[in-house]
Amino acid sequence: MLETKVKRYQYGNPFQTDAVVIKLPIYHEPLQKLSHENGNFIYKLEKGAAVYGLGESVRGINKRGWFYTSFCTDDDMHTENKHALYGSHNFLICNESQPFGIFIDYPGKVHFDIGYTDLDTLMIEPEMMNLDLYLIEGQNVLEIIQTFRTLIGQSYIPPKWAFGYQQSRWSYETADEIREVAYHFKKHEIPLDSIYLDIDYMQNLKDFTVDPHKFPDFENLVAELKEEGIHLIPIIDAGVKAEAGYEIYEEGIKNGYFIKNEDGTPFEAAVWPGKVHFPDFLNKETRTWFGMKYKTLIDKGIEGFWNDMNEPSIFYTPNAMKQAMDSVLENKEKNIDLGLFFGIKDQFSNILNKPEYFKEMYHDTDQGFVCHHEVHNLYGYNMTRAAAEAFDVIKEERMLLFSRASSTGMHRFSGIWTGDNRSWWSHLLLNIKMMPSLNMCGYLYSGADIGGFSDNTTEDLLTRWLQFGIFTPLMRNHTAKYTRAQEPYRFKSMAVMRHFICLRYVLVNHLYSEYMKACLSNTLYFKALAFEYSDDISKEIEDQLLLGDGLMIAPIYEQNKTGRVVYFPEEMLCVRFTTEKTYQLELMKQGHHYVSMPIDQLVIFIRPNHLLILNDEAQNVSQLDNHQIEIIAHVQTTCEGRYYEDNGLVKNPKLEDGLSQININIENNEVGTQWQKSKNSQLNHVTYTVYDAKQNEIFIHTENL
Ligand code: GLC
Repeated sequence: MLETKVKRYQYGNPFQTDAVVIKLPIYHEPLQKLSHENGNFIYKLEKGAAVYGLGESVRGINKRGWFYTSFCTDDDMHTENKHALYGSHNFLICNESQPFGIFIDYPGKVHFDIGYTDLDTLMIEPEMMNLDLYLIEGQNVLEIIQTFRTLIGQSYIPPKWAFGYQQSRWSYETADEIREVAYHFKKHEIPLDSIYLDIDYMQNLKDFTVDPHKFPDFENLVAELKEEGIHLIPIIDAGVKAEAGYEIYEEGIKNGYFIKNEDGTPFEAAVWPGKVHFPDFLNKETRTWFGMKYKTLIDKGIEGFWNDMNEPSIFYTPNAMKQAMDSVLENKEKNIDLGLFFGIKDQFSNILNKPEYFKEMYHDTDQGFVCHHEVHNLYGYNMTRAAAEAFDVIKEERMLLFSRASSTGMHRFSGIWTGDNRSWWSHLLLNIKMMPSLNMCGYLYSGADIGGFSDNTTEDLLTRWLQFGIFTPLMRNHTAKYTRAQEPYRFKSMAVMRHFICLRYVLVNHLYSEYMKACLSNTLYFKALAFEYSDDISKEIEDQLLLGDGLMIAPIYEQNKTGRVVYFPEEMLCVRFTTEKTYQLELMKQGHHYVSMPIDQLVIFIRPNHLLILNDEAQNVSQLDNHQIEIIAHVQTTCEGRYYEDNGLVKNPKLEDGLSQININIENNEVGTQWQKSKNSQLNHVTYTVYDAKQNEIFIHTENL
């Protein structure tokens, strides 16, 4: 089936990345679609055709007009002059009269010049010609995406509680500080499902340790919070502190589990704890060893982790530091003039994440002894895979897991967050634009640091970001050391922020249902309007998104705005939540409309013949009452909805087992509904608010199932 739509071309001797799950035979006819010159693949783009994809990258949904580099990079300035961020997702679609997709399965550096050198030319430049190129055909963008996602395998499914609100900062330093955060959320009745532990929970920044002075009763703390429905989520970093007597270091050295220098000795670099070694995650034995270390914390009650600094991020190597220090000392007595001053300064500012480091590192894999630079993008992926494969052995239930670095393939094992953004309005917009591209590449469980990581947030930015965050599967507020505190209870407008966090819970069953449908059928949770509508205006809209089957959102991402112009490609029903318990309905005609969006209101649009499912709010996901829901239906003719429900923890769930089917129609002013409940459904009471778009009338209807 897939073979009729996908052709696999092979060049040289590719390193097996495990990006795809369906092994297609190699197609031996010459590649005709693209020309192949001087190690580049070149394609003449149709005038005005959009190019979508590349997952986590800067700029817009339509990638045309810039060049992007696929090479996982720890760069905390996500500005539009950059080329690479933390992930490498080499899939793109040229949306032309005959649309097609390209996936470059190659673990090293690839440049994608998408109309940068010449607006009408797409040029793909892999550093080496050892790769598989997949050409994917289909009627439209959505079909091509579904085919690609089938090829790379089903996306990661987190536990349902991971759809609750999550609070983080670098760092809540002690058990008491964690308790204080939980206390404030409870006191102010702000729902909460997780609190994060950043690096300072560790003993001297050593992975899988807990500082006994700051967290003297760690297991009790985990249990105590769990009683309140709150999960503690510790961070794990890629670098293992080089310290005699530290178990992980000793075992790693003894068994040769660390990345090596070319001569076989362990490669040494420095990150947070000073000198570290990096586990060789491209080695299967190392993966099993490191993965099982997560058990230390799982045994203490932990049910989720975030993997960080796994591009890998390198502050310096001992050699680079020595060179920099020597140059300072050499010049100590000199008159430090312009040239010398900037030379010395650069020695230090360029020491962080020097690309040369990756050329000194080697992996011992079952495909040979390979230089890290050539397989760089697989590192964070395999760190995270190590954890996920161990979880499969250790736990019966799903675990929460997300990573900073990623590449195609890792989406089966975890989600991602989009790294160190800033408390900038432009980064809220970047967050909005990045979501459909991430989804295309298999990353459904994702989100940005709400409120912004670096720099000081502002009350209105955080509020607007929470409004958008309501819809991202990962809804986590996180910020850096030394920045303004951004827990919602710190602000004068706490009630407004609480209102939005409560709304996340009112919508959580709907969002979870859309997430599961997207995961289990390899479709999108977030779509650009252009993926569904072919009119000229929709094609260019990048600040409104479609969510799942039936919703559209149009977030505010600018300071001091109380409304915005929204484009409606078709008639939609506007649902305006004024408080979490009440809402107003208004029909929006096709076309452009200014929609008022005061900072304390949330607006969602329902497409024709679709519905929105609400449940009662709860203080965390485990307290949700799944027996009753309210459905707002926008009926033009017949409305058909599919609602997915499971216990939120079962591994390998099946779509067929969790789907309920709802049909709503209106005839002669009578609302007719039909339910086909899935066998595990807990639902027994439904209230319908049905908007009859033809008559402009609202019907209320209740039903016991
Ligand atoms: C990195 C992560 C950030 C974390 C910090 C300290 O910058 O991206 O989320 O807070 O490290 O661990």
